[in-house]
Amino acid sequence: MSGKKKLIILLGPPGAGKGTQAKKISREFDLVHISTGDILRNEVRDGTELGSKVKEIMNAGDLVPDELVGEIVRSCIEKHSSAAGFILDGYPRNVTQAEFLMCIADGWPVYAVCIRVEEETLVKRLTGRRYCPGCGKIYNVYFSPPSTEGICDACGTELVQRRDDREEVIAERLRVYHEQTRPVIDYFSSLGRYFEIDGSKSVPHVAQALSELVGVIEK
Ligand code: AP5
Repeated sequence: MSGKKKLIILLGPPGAGKGTQAKKISREFDLVHISTGDILRNEVRDGTELGSKVKEIMNAGDLVPDELVGEIVRSCIEKHSSAAGFILDGYPRNVTQAEFLMCIADGWPVYAVCIRVEEETLVKRLTGRRYCPGCGKIYNVYFSPPSTEGICDACGTELVQRRDDREEVIAERLRVYHEQTRPVIDYFSSLGRYFEIDGSKSVPHVAQALSELVGVIEK
């Protein structure tokens, strides 16, 4: 792939706020947002062949095979060949995926930013998350509830909980994160391309910290 594009990776455990922050940063810095979790969930929702392959794996909180996710990321990047850059949320999830990404990004500046949050807060954020199947808006019963319980403010659709946001699945997702995704931090750290921000504060506070960091990276 030709031309230098900036590639920012948001790392962090489930519930750290990667998706929430990636949406904001993509708008602010005109970066294409690639969320492998959202893309896979859409495949499951639409009942595609890929969706049927990954449904049970996702419901159990385990990782989808590297080849399937790698292909998704590669084709997204190819599809947006004129973009100034990308913000990745949920990819890479292990060192194999990180190495694959560095091959695709042949020579582009790549930076990884980890959003750090304590486990107790993560569990509350995940068990409290609800989403609107109509318009995709995300709520949290503890931190950002809708004005009418269980109903989307934007389109009036009934809110639902992600299947992998049940407590037993959250425990497995956190286990997988510690075992497979944390080594990705060492990988980018050893390349001198790693940053951290405190994700425990409110959404606007975290957004401000991330925006300032990305602004510095941009220069
Ligand atoms: P994915 O969708 O990537 O899930 P995840 O990494 O577990 O992350 P989450 O979406 O749960 O959390 P987040 O950090 O984005 O937080 P969010 O902003 O939503 O992956 C799901 C599954 O897909 C995986 O388990 C796997 O099976 C598969 N998969 C995906 N990518 C893969 C890959 N590369 N390889 C293999 N398999 C893959 O926020 C969470 C909640 O907290 C929301 O309610 C939000 O409103 C709230 N919140 C956010 N920030 C704050 C804040 N600062 N204060 C208060 N509340 C907040």
